[in-house]
Amino acid sequence: MKKIFAVALIIFSALVVEAQCQEKYIDLHLHLDGAITPGIAKELAALQNITLPVSNDQELEKLLTLPEDSQNLNDFLKCFEFPLSLLQTPEGLRAAVRLVANEIQSQGVIYAEFHYAPQLHTQKGMTQEDAVKAALEGLKDSKLKANLILCLMRGSDNDAENYQTLELARKYLVKDGGVVGLDLAGAESLYPTQNYEAIFTKAREYKIPFTIHAGEDDGPESIRAALSFGANRIAHGVRAYEDPEVVELIKNSGVSLGLCPTSNRMTNAVPDMLKYPLMDYFYKGIKVTINTDDPAIEGTTLHEEFEYLKHEFGLKDSQKFIMLENSIEAAFTTDEVKEWLRREIF
Ligand code: ADE
Ligand code: ZN
Repeated sequence: MKKIFAVALIIFSALVVEAQCQEKYIDLHLHLDGAITPGIAKELAALQNITLPVSNDQELEKLLTLPEDSQNLNDFLKCFEFPLSLLQTPEGLRAAVRLVANEIQSQGVIYAEFHYAPQLHTQKGMTQEDAVKAALEGLKDSKLKANLILCLMRGSDNDAENYQTLELARKYLVKDGGVVGLDLAGAESLYPTQNYEAIFTKAREYKIPFTIHAGEDDGPESIRAALSFGANRIAHGVRAYEDPEVVELIKNSGVSLGLCPTSNRMTNAVPDMLKYPLMDYFYKGIKVTINTDDPAIEGTTLHEEFEYLKHEFGLKDSQKFIMLENSIEAAFTTDEVKEWLRREIF
């Protein structure tokens, strides 16, 4: 009897694993430097002859994940220093794109848009353009269908670097297989979105699609600003509910919100995760998409994000598929790729 039970359990587990493997996902909001797992970090260190500043796996894991006592986005952003130190050479950056792509592909992701800021990869002499070229090579080394989104960084003394990134996005812009858009990342409440109107006016002139991190650490007025600049998507936007007028604005604009539940929990973007507004936005007709943001730092995968929504908020499969269709519509890529994604997923 025991044996029959054990065999049944094995078969059931195999079916569960297979079902998980068959799940197909799209990640439109994943930062390369937030996706460096301990395994990837070790490979990158070995490739570049970098001695890791820790002596065992446990310490390495600690170095790459968010500390328990972190309070907000500013604490969260401190976690990027170490992974970024492994992404300062063309070989390192190229390999990182390949390794992260392979990692998420093994978790069911079939299309991704990797966000990264070329200006954060110049510590050892790479130019921003070298950093773009290296990441493009990395895309070619992987079988995952993926594109790049170049991040401008919030800050007080990096205007020149941001404009350089803008010009690189213009130069390398394609519809698929390379740089497909811009983003604005970094410390949102310290450097308000409103400060970036001029650069996004230029991005619009250049016809570069863009998303902006807004309504994550700063309030709904940051979303209002991003929409007024003509953002094609909002990264997060979770705090929209604080101003019902902004919720209406988002709904009427048809612009999607790229929500990242675990990230929002870890940065305390909302005070109470039991009142996480995702399903409210969904029922109001806002186009929400589900993403990981920084999967290694948060210790998550897209599969886990959807499981969380299923268990905490009763997300149904039919609703999950609507969210995946939202991702397809919002992706910065060609109609051909979108049609392929629909065939793969539905
Ligand atoms: N860079 C990486 N993750 C980020 C986040 N959640 N917000 C702003 N900038 C980021
Ligand atoms: Zn992000």
